[in-house]
Formats: sequence, structure tokens, C-alpha cells
Amino acid sequence: MTRPIVTYPDATLRKQAKTVENIDGEVVALADDMAETMYLSRGIGLAAPQVGESCCLVVADIGGGVIELFNPEIISAEGTAAMKEGCLSVPDVMLEIHRAEKIVVEGINRDGKKIILEAEDLMARVLQHEIDHLRGMLIIDRVSKIQRQLISGQLKKLRRDQKQR
Ligand code: NI
Repeated sequence: MTRPIVTYPDATLRKQAKTVENIDGEVVALADDMAETMYLSRGIGLAAPQVGESCCLVVADIGGGVIELFNPEIISAEGTAAMKEGCLSVPDVMLEIHRAEKIVVEGINRDGKKIILEAEDLMARVLQHEIDHLRGMLIIDRVSKIQRQLISGQLKKLRRDQKQR
């Protein structure tokens, strides 16, 4: 089942997401719904707060199949790279973001097993982007004040659209 994507400036997007203590049927169903929602929206990653669930869960697929991680943590990072990024929760905004080139992420899979994932380039970028969501951080927080000013009209429109809903 797909779920509606919440957009800026929704308060859920700004919260620190809760650690998943227990991988039960409910969070597994959430992970399935998130993957379905991501594919429908043609995204390559999605974090639980983006469907209004403040819990530490991310899904990603850059073409090699879905990866899902509960309670992901970046345990090491190296290099930096810049690339334009968008976000399903900040529609119509593209920003150049600097991030680590390679990362190692630790998390738990749906069977409750600890997994360690080494990611580079696009996958490293997607995972960093999604893990940011779990800390209440959006791409607009990762750019300079000047870059933010350049998109202020678009952000204002998003705030206005949400008030009208
Ligand atoms: Ni995003």
C-alpha cells in the first residue's frame, strides 16, 4: 500500500526519529509501504518521516534492488563530493549538496540481524540524505544562506500550498 508523502514544512520532517526497538509486523509493513511509495514516486530513497512516521527506517534503490535499514548509523565516512539533489518532501527544489564520497553504515535488517554496508558514490549519497531525514534535516539545511535565498520563492510557495490543504 502506498502512503502519502509529507512535504516541507510539515513538523514530522523536523523531528528526531525514534529508534525502532522491536521489529514487528507493523514496522515491516511500513518498510514495504515505503518501498512501494518510493517506486510510485520514482524516488531512489525514502525515510519513514517522509510518510509521517517518526521512526528510524530508510529504504533505497538505485537500481540494484531495495535496501532497507532500521536504525542506520554512519560509522565512518571519507572523501567529499558535490552533486545536485532533490527530495520528494521538498518538491521542485534541486540543490548542490556536498557529502562524503564513501561511507560505512551499520543498521538492522527486517530479520533483526545487524548489517554493515559499505557504500560509495550515488548509494553513499542516497543513504546520507535519508539518514539526514531521521535527524530532522533536509537538503535546504545543507546549503549556504545564499543558495537558500535563491530558492526562497519556491519554499514560500510550499508553505502556502500546505496552509491551503
Ligand atoms: Ni529527501
